[in-house]
Formats: sequence, C-alpha cells, structure tokens
Amino acid sequence: MSRSGLIQPPPSDRLTGTMTPATPSWHPLSWQGRPSAATAMPYEVVSAGLAPADPTPAMKRLAGLPPLVTSWEIERLKTLIADAQAGRRFLLQGGDCAETLADCAPDAITAKLKIILQMSLVLVYAGKQPVIRVARLAGQYAKPRSNLTETRSDSGATTTLPSYFGDLYNRSDFSAAARRVDPERMVDAYWHAGLTLNFVRSLLDAGFADIHHPEYWDLGFLRHAALRPEVRGAYEKLTARVHDGLAFMNAMEGTAGAEPPTNGAGQVSTHGVELFTSHEGLNLYYESALTRTVPRRTGHYNLGTHLPWIGERTRQLDGAHVEYFRGIRNPVGVKIGPSTTAETVLKLASTLNPGGEPGKLVLIARLGRANVERVLPGLIEGVGNRAGPVLWVCDPMHGNTISTASGIKTRSFDDVLGELMASWRIHRAAGSRLGGVHFEMTGEDVTECIGGATGLSESDLSRNYASLCDPRLNYDQALEMAFALAELMQAG
Ligand code: PEP
Ligand code: CO
Repeated sequence: MSRSGLIQPPPSDRLTGTMTPATPSWHPLSWQGRPSAATAMPYEVVSAGLAPADPTPAMKRLAGLPPLVTSWEIERLKTLIADAQAGRRFLLQGGDCAETLADCAPDAITAKLKIILQMSLVLVYAGKQPVIRVARLAGQYAKPRSNLTETRSDSGATTTLPSYFGDLYNRSDFSAAARRVDPERMVDAYWHAGLTLNFVRSLLDAGFADIHHPEYWDLGFLRHAALRPEVRGAYEKLTARVHDGLAFMNAMEGTAGAEPPTNGAGQVSTHGVELFTSHEGLNLYYESALTRTVPRRTGHYNLGTHLPWIGERTRQLDGAHVEYFRGIRNPVGVKIGPSTTAETVLKLASTLNPGGEPGKLVLIARLGRANVERVLPGLIEGVGNRAGPVLWVCDPMHGNTISTASGIKTRSFDDVLGELMASWRIHRAAGSRLGGVHFEMTGEDVTECIGGATGLSESDLSRNYASLCDPRLNYDQALEMAFALAELMQAG
C-alpha cells in the first residue's frame, strides 16, 4: 500500500529553521518504514486472520478537517509543564484506560470532568501550588495489545478473532464483524473526540468549574465519599479551610503569587480553570493526519491532543513512534517501565528533545510497587540533569496489574498507593521532585480495582466491571488517592 501523496513531505530543510539539526528529514509520515509492533497499527497485517485495510482514504478525510486543539493551547501547556519542571506546579493526569465512542455521552463526560476537578482541588489545597489538569480524554481510543488475535472457547467450539485494539480500530464484541479492523473508525473517533471536547469546553466556559458552583466545588461532596477515618479528618480540615484566602484562589487559577484576576464587577473570577487533553499516540496514521503546520509558527503540531504520549511497548529508539514524536512541537510523555535503563532514557531525551526545550518532556514512570525501590533511584541518579529539563511523573497503575484466580484483571489500591508513596519518598531522598501523577480512574462507581476505604474485594469485581481494558480507580478510590497524595504533599 502506498501512502505517498497523502501528506507531502516538505522539502527536506524547510523544517530546519527552528528545529535542531537532529531533525532534518522529519515529516509527519517519516515514521513509515520504521519498525513498529504490528499490534500498534494493525491495518496492514494480513496474517492471523486480519484482512489488510487501507487507511489512506480515512487519513485524507481527517487531514481536511479542523484541528481539535490549537497551537496556542499546546504552547501554553508547555509553559505550564516548564513551570512544573521548575517545581512551581504539579501535574495531575488521569482518565480511562480505554475511552470508548459510547463514552461520548453527557453524564460520562461530566463525571470525568468532575473527578479530575475535585482531585485537583484537593491537591491544590495540599500542595499550595497550581495543578495542571490533563485528562486522558477525547482521543484515548487505541490500545496496545500483546497479541494480534484472541481465542475464545464456547461449548467446545474455539474461535480466533482479531484482538480488540480500541474503538479507534474495531469494536470489543467478540464477533467477526465487530473485530474487523476498520480505518473509517478513525474518522468516527475524530468526531467523537471533537464532540467530547466541545462539551467540555462549553461546561468550563459556562462555569462548571466555578469555585462557587455548589454541586461541583462545594466540598460537601466529600461527605458522601468513603474515606478512612484519618482521611476524613483531613477532609474536615480541608472543608474548614478551603475557602481561606486568595492564595488558594490564585493557585486554582494558576496565577500563584499574582493579583487575583477579576471580572468586570471586581469579583474574583474563577472561570479560568484549564483542562488539557492527552492520549497515547499509538495509531500513527491518525496522529499524522492531525499533524499540521500553523500560520506564524514554525514546525508541526499534533492538533488532535495537547499532550500525546508514547507507550511502554512502542518507545524503541529506532521505532516508528519515536520517529513520529521527535518531530512534533507538542510536549510529549514517555512511559518508562521497569526494564528501562537511565541510558535509554537519556537517548530518548536527546532524540525527543535534542534542544533541551523546557516543558517538552514528561517521563511517566510505571515501574510497579515491586520494582520501584530497585529501579527508580538508579533512573533518577543516571538521568540527573543530563536529559535537560524533564518532569518526573508517577503512573502507579500500569506496573501493578494482576489477574485474579478467575482471570479478571485488577489492581490493588494498596499497591497503587504503595508505588506512589515510594516514588514520592525516593525522589525526595535523591534531591529530585515527583512533579506529577498519572492515574487510570473514572468518576463512576465501578468495581475494577480492589481495596480502598470501601473495602472492595475480589468478589465485588463482577458487580460493575465496565473497563474494556485496564481496571480504573472508581470515584471513591480516586478521591481517597488524592487525599493520600495530599498528605504526602503536606508532610513535605
Ligand atoms: C496505558 O497508559 O493505558 C498503557 C497501556 O500504558 P503503558 O504503555 O505504560 O503500558
Ligand atoms: Co491502561
């Protein structure tokens, strides 16, 4: 299948004006021909029962549609991340493991927005500094799988079908029709991402995040949350003091240290709460179709999301994903698993951020509670200042996935919290700083992770297990996690 002609590579050094010499031949499709796991972009796989599919027509349609986010927002996020790298902000990133197109519904979107805003409120209060809110939202539709196919046996009959690769590729039902990998779904996903974002933007504009909006910000909501007694104590203090003073208000606005912004009537305005989007940039056909140049700026922006990240399975230095990511102007995240060496991180940093641009690189360590003590100190020490400015973020979810005896994927609240606490402590001991957290979570009352104050056990998991991929913290568990982190922040 030829993709040439879809997005014309620019003359080789038109891009080099403000880019470093390390990127002379980059263009949005220069990743093609680089090695990548077949499960990352399974369109072309003819083996294992998958029919080849041509993504070109869908990409052409996407390439003509408007951006989902703007370069101003992306540059703004970069300055906020640069601030976080300098210790002045904290990053809260979270959302579904696998967002579905069906999640593009008012209640689901509102619930996601609400939990991330409420968690950020707790963290702003505890950390006494602004929180950058980044949702896994409006594009988290592609999943890396370990196998191209999935086999199921039912009443003696065995069926093998393509794996579910996320709604960006196919559907999760176990039928041949649903599992067909269909490039047109990229266009569908784009519309759903756009509508999701439109609703989020409208809610925020309309004052959903207004600190005076009782149902979202009044801390009365916490009264109903299941919290350990000591966490409840922290909550009591929080409710008593949260409206104290402008320092807090300024931090919510992200203007710590400045005069509080006012509206025309001289009131403190709280409409400025910002939210950014992120997703794993797994399907490079989708990502490159949304990668554009913009007037009066140099270089290319992925205008499908603010903060795309490279997953643990696709961060090979010579691979397609690193090639694509090295050329975009967005801030980028890289997942760092337990087998990663400091040397690899340094090479990734020099490829992805050769100029050492502040705000550009976010290292998302997902080491696992069992590995964090052994691996993280060496990474911190080995990377030091040699990678340029980086933001160290802890994803305490992906190294802690376990299977129950009956084969249900889950995570223990204690393992998640254990990795988070250890990371916090290890950074402090090393004179470094944990600058953010990355959770898989939902604002709904699902039963996917065990533990937490509500005492969810293995036998509860089947009650409301809704994730199509990894288990998420539910509303209570996510809030409890925010309070636990708040305690760490307050302890210093
Ligand atoms: C994810 O974030 O959902 C994911 C698959 O992460 P990782 O690449 O770290 O395994
Ligand atoms: Co996941």
